[in-house]
Amino acid sequence: MAGLANEEINRIQSQANIVEIISSYISLEKQGKNYFGVCPFHDDHNPSMSVSEEKGLFTCFVCHKTGNVFSFVQDFENVSFIEAVRIVASKIGIEIDTGYRETDVYSKHYEAVELTLKFYQNNLKSQEGLSAREYLNKRGINDEIIEEFNIGYAPTNYDTICKLLTTKGFDEQILVETGLANRGNTLYDLFRNRITFPIHNPSGKPVGFSARIYEDINEAKYINTKETPIFKKGKILFNYHRAQNEARRLKYLIVVEGQMDAIRLYASGIKNVVATMGTALTDDHIKLLKKLNVKIILCMDNDTAGEKATIQNGEALSSANVDLSILRITGAKDPDEYILKHSKEEFEDAVKHAATYFDFKLSYYKKDKNLNKVEDVSNYINQVLAELNKSNNQVLIDLTVNELSQEYGVDKNVLLNQIIKVEPVKVNKIEPRKEKKLSKNQKLSSILLYYMMNDTKYIRLYEQELGFIPDEKYLDIANDLLAFFLKYNYINIADFITYEISSDKYEQVLAIVDNNIRIELNDADYVGIINKIKMWIDENKINELKAKLKSITDINEKLKLMDEIAKMKKRMCQNEES
Ligand code: CTP
Ligand code: MN
Repeated sequence: MAGLANEEINRIQSQANIVEIISSYISLEKQGKNYFGVCPFHDDHNPSMSVSEEKGLFTCFVCHKTGNVFSFVQDFENVSFIEAVRIVASKIGIEIDTGYRETDVYSKHYEAVELTLKFYQNNLKSQEGLSAREYLNKRGINDEIIEEFNIGYAPTNYDTICKLLTTKGFDEQILVETGLANRGNTLYDLFRNRITFPIHNPSGKPVGFSARIYEDINEAKYINTKETPIFKKGKILFNYHRAQNEARRLKYLIVVEGQMDAIRLYASGIKNVVATMGTALTDDHIKLLKKLNVKIILCMDNDTAGEKATIQNGEALSSANVDLSILRITGAKDPDEYILKHSKEEFEDAVKHAATYFDFKLSYYKKDKNLNKVEDVSNYINQVLAELNKSNNQVLIDLTVNELSQEYGVDKNVLLNQIIKVEPVKVNKIEPRKEKKLSKNQKLSSILLYYMMNDTKYIRLYEQELGFIPDEKYLDIANDLLAFFLKYNYINIADFITYEISSDKYEQVLAIVDNNIRIELNDADYVGIINKIKMWIDENKINELKAKLKSITDINEKLKLMDEIAKMKKRMCQNEES
């Protein structure tokens, strides 16, 4: 942890409200003392994750993921611990220098892209960029939008960027690795005489470009940055960094194909939009989308390719259990053109009326069929039944079968018989973690440890009065608590679990928390528990002595032992009375 002391981490944690931080990722609702939300770490359909503000702890009652504010951010953002600390710190307005940063390794790459972006941007404003600018203006991309999206112009010359970056001290390797240049006989720029659209990673750093021709020339319409160490096409969605907050606020995100579509929507005020840049959604894309925990409105172009893309992306999204709607625009070839022809309001209205993915598929299967022909009807019905086979939604099945039966005059039972009963997906019941059948004494130990996890005074009292539990498992955790307290001089369940507990004891500690979480801590009760455990210890001793008594023959020794046992019994009775 270069440059970041434990005190610093503790300070950040004590200032960060876990409920507020987690709320910036998923929505939480208050229920009693705790907050509940849909767990982002497993395929959850109920709010199974509880967040305790008081304890600084989150725990999922289904997948059992538990931790503090840092471990949540670490797992949610898929970053290192130190990066998670930095993210939490910046969310609460603390700037820290963690020394190492994930971007450091490729800092030169990022820098090269940034410089090139600035150059292109400037170049668009120069005399050389005049006709590119005219093209943009003609398409209704005004200077304000150009500025907002850092749109630029790559010059015609074959090595402007190569020269620029070389003069600034970048070596050939960086130029080639960032995809800004290629190596042939000489080193040459990849983007020439094109309008450039910078592409940013999810944290908002520019990592590549998509570059468009603007004259009537016989070349590929777009050239894009190839895969590079900092530009992974399958992990990047155009405009994601600008769209995410608005999507969370409005609880939905529009996914379009082209960056021009995203730019148009954004510029018209619909800011919760990202573009796939013409590729099929990958698992990593879907992870990015799921992170937002909002409804997805898939709005591909109004052509056959767009229809295919809707099916392909729709399948991927729906099998990842994304809340999905389909918007098919009409009267325009893509959302860009739609907004220009109609208005922002009409587009928003269309979003409101977007179809379910299931309904989209039904109309997709109907297309190109002549439903006056028996063969086509039968094909259509079979396609619909195949879809219903994938569904666990009994109501949907019933409604659809009724409709088919009425519309095409097929006996409902014939249709129902075609639907192979699929085993309904087992939904995990929310079962709090339970310690396995506990004896009376184990229950006492469990409560004792729970007290210790909550207040250092109970750890101190344990050390003074007991220092021992006659059950190895519980003793082990008590020793861990003592060790944590000695090391850090405070106690907090989340930190104790995160920093002190080895993975084999994890489950047991969590079970202790789960089982006792409703206990109201009370000093007198604690003393009572300590005394009962003392008696348990004495009982064990008496049993040992009794066993020993059997094995010795010397009468004096026997008498001495019997005396000792009697004394212990007397002490126990006194204890019990007090
Ligand atoms: N695309 C690409 N290479 C191409 C064509 C398209 O990389 N030769 C990508 C671009 O990211 C583009 C997206 O696929 O934005 C969608 O393609 P298309 O609909 O043809 O582009 P538009 O965004 O509509 O661009 P424009 O309106 O400027 O034609
Ligand atoms: Mn277009």
